[in-house]
Amino acid sequence: MTEHIKIPNLQLHDGHQIPALGFGTYTLKASEGVEVMLRALGHGYRMLDSAFNYENEGAVGEAVRQSGLAREELFITSKLPGRHHAYDEARQTIQESLYRMQLDYLDLYLIHWPNPKQGLYVEAWQALIDAQNEGLIKSIGVSNFLPEHIDTLQRETGVLPVINQIELHPYFNQSKQREYDQSKQILTMAWSPLGRGSEVNENETLKKIAQELDYSVQQVILRWQHQLGVIPIPKSSSDKNQLANQQIFDFSLSDQQMQQINQLTRSDGRLADQDPAVYEEF
Ligand SMILES: NC(=O)c1ccc[n+]([C@@H]2O[C@H](COP(=O)([O-])OP(=O)(O)OC[C@H]3O[C@@H](n4cnc5c(N)ncnc54)[C@H](OP(=O)(O)O)[C@@H]3O)[C@@H](O)[C@H]2O)c1
Repeated sequence: MTEHIKIPNLQLHDGHQIPALGFGTYTLKASEGVEVMLRALGHGYRMLDSAFNYENEGAVGEAVRQSGLAREELFITSKLPGRHHAYDEARQTIQESLYRMQLDYLDLYLIHWPNPKQGLYVEAWQALIDAQNEGLIKSIGVSNFLPEHIDTLQRETGVLPVINQIELHPYFNQSKQREYDQSKQILTMAWSPLGRGSEVNENETLKKIAQELDYSVQQVILRWQHQLGVIPIPKSSSDKNQLANQQIFDFSLSDQQMQQINQLTRSDGRLADQDPAVYEEF
């Protein structure tokens, strides 16, 4: 395997480290998915972002084994679905994720959505804490959590997540949530960092900055996230894009360019109106 660029690590507040750039695996399944993930690992990615609900934990585990990389070199993430928040079910689901991956431990496990109307995310969090204490998970975190949900976890269990994985791209830059996460030493991770290939990639301001720097719009977006202290997890099936997305460690944006991108955010900028205060996913 040819290794390309070494992705730097960032420090988590529980003492573990995490790559500053990950690889999204949503829609990558079965043998085709394994093949794409193997190419990503060959190109230097070490973090694979999966979820119970992506139905690809088997493919992730297969890619880990076929890569020939040492387990400790890799950073494997999965997520607990909303339908299994009840404590006993959450405990079983974590074990089921490990069986599906055929791994002894996960580096990171997240509660996928808070589903506040269901009101069981504290139970789910307790299950993650206990699985961490048993060594099944190295680090525990959340996804799509608002400040009020994280405050509740802290109040009820005294344990704060290390990661909050949220929708974040130039049209929805989450400045308030980022500020909150930072105040709790939680690292923010960006899902759909490239807006899932949507029109943000055609934005004139981004095009101008890309031209100034001689990098692509997508590379500029990922670099902007890195400079905000956010971990992007772009998904890409092509070798060209998998490699291009790692070049974000080769250049930087000026304060002025950062400001210009910060100004692109919109209050209705979410891709699919998934506001965690009301949206539920099971
Ligand atoms: N926690 C959550 O609720 C949640 C929700 C959604 C997603 N996620 C996670 O976030 C990951 C990433 O989000 P996503 O898959 O929705 O979308 P994304 O990473 O924002 O965008 C993926 C799209 O961008 C294209 N692309 C990637 N790099 C490119 C480049 N350098 N130049 C041009 N096009 C490029 C890809 O095309 P090619 O494949 O052709 O390169 C693909 O069509 C997911 O895979 C998943 O792991 C989590």
